Amino acid sequence: MTQDELKDAVAAAAIDEVRPMLGNNIVIGIGTGSTANCFIDRLAELRGDFRGAVASSEASAKRLKGHGIDVFELNETGTLPVYIDGADEVNAHLQMIKGGGAALTREKIVAACASRFICIADASKHVERLGNFPLPVEVIPMARSYVARELVKLGADPVYRQGVVTDNGNQILDCYEFMIDDPVAMEARLNAIVGVVTNGLFAARPADILLLGESSGVSRHVSA
Ligand code: 5RP
Repeated sequence: MTQDELKDAVAAAAIDEVRPMLGNNIVIGIGTGSTANCFIDRLAELRGDFRGAVASSEASAKRLKGHGIDVFELNETGTLPVYIDGADEVNAHLQMIKGGGAALTREKIVAACASRFICIADASKHVERLGNFPLPVEVIPMARSYVARELVKLGADPVYRQGVVTDNGNQILDCYEFMIDDPVAMEARLNAIVGVVTNGLFAARPADILLLGESSGVSRHVSA
């Protein structure tokens, strides 16, 4: 199977996972990226079975609306029953690196408001140790150089993602050469740097369920 076929297979498995939770008053959280897009496209056939969605990016909101799915502001909805999103890396504890698509802040906010986080990923995303994928850090623009210097002190090699402005009007530093031994501690450490809006470690709030697409099929992993 190609990587695209694996992404579609996990999207289909996520539809099966979510279908029993749907109902007229139900609003679900939807993430960002190519795997989330596969899920959005499959969700279109269920559009009459739920109220709508909260999106973690303008791009996902546009795609949802294109399928006739209503998009709500998170402030209107309260707690969501479920959030479905991809990942750049995911480990055995279902902790993740996210933000390859620069949507990490809204992703973390929507995930925080969801009772259940379902991560959908192809097998290439599954790692023993987080950090091979450069960890994204969203920064307030005027703090970018300061934050970069602080990241160097922590051992990272931060690179400014040129030309990218997040949906929140901020900038991204990608941390190369930054293998992470203690994701929960590092997530908190990075959050404490003045000027950091969010970092792409999703460790304090890992996924609850991982649907992992492999050539042998989709495997289901539940957070311990
Ligand atoms: C966007 C993200 C995505 O979930 C992550 O980059 C995975 O994307 P894809 O499904 O395209 O591989 O965090 O900010």
